[in-house]
Amino acid sequence: MLFLLFFFLYFTPSMAAEPRVVVTSDLKSIYDVLSAHGLPKGLLPKGIRDYEFHEESGRFVVFLDRECNAMFENQLHYETNVTGTLSYGQIGALSGISAQDLFLWFPVKGIRVDIPSSGVIYFDVGVVFKQFSQSLFETPPECVSASKNQHRKIGNQFVESGSVKVA
Ligand SMILES: *[C@@H]1O[C@H](CO)[C@@H](O)[C@H](O)[C@H]1NC(C)=O
Repeated sequence: MLFLLFFFLYFTPSMAAEPRVVVTSDLKSIYDVLSAHGLPKGLLPKGIRDYEFHEESGRFVVFLDRECNAMFENQLHYETNVTGTLSYGQIGALSGISAQDLFLWFPVKGIRVDIPSSGVIYFDVGVVFKQFSQSLFETPPECVSASKNQHRKIGNQFVESGSVKVA
């Protein structure tokens, strides 16, 4: 009898076919999940409806109320679904966030901070890492509704309508 109990306690979870979503929005916020990974909470804006985070793989998906833009030093565009892989001090395989630079929109593919923190945060926009002060991202910003239709896509980049610039 005791053995059976032992068996169920120790073997039932690993026998589940589907990976469990370990952390859900009922337990803590995605901002707390960012903090727990050494990342500033303000990387994600206000207006998050729900999220999923799989602790073992680090995979997460964040559902926003709507597409929106938030202003830091540069403007960031958030799509309604933001996905990526969290590990300590970094987000990889990121999709759903674009950063504006010189009127162009660059998909942000990854974000990382130094460990221990140097106060600098790095945005991987493909060709280069853009550096920002981490203090810009201390609190989740307001995010103003903005659709992607307002940006024309040229190649891999989004260009604001009316301000096409050839870099
Ligand atoms: C966002 O995720 C939801 C749930 O997985 C899905 O139904 C929806 O199609 C996704 N939206 C976009 C724009 O990818």
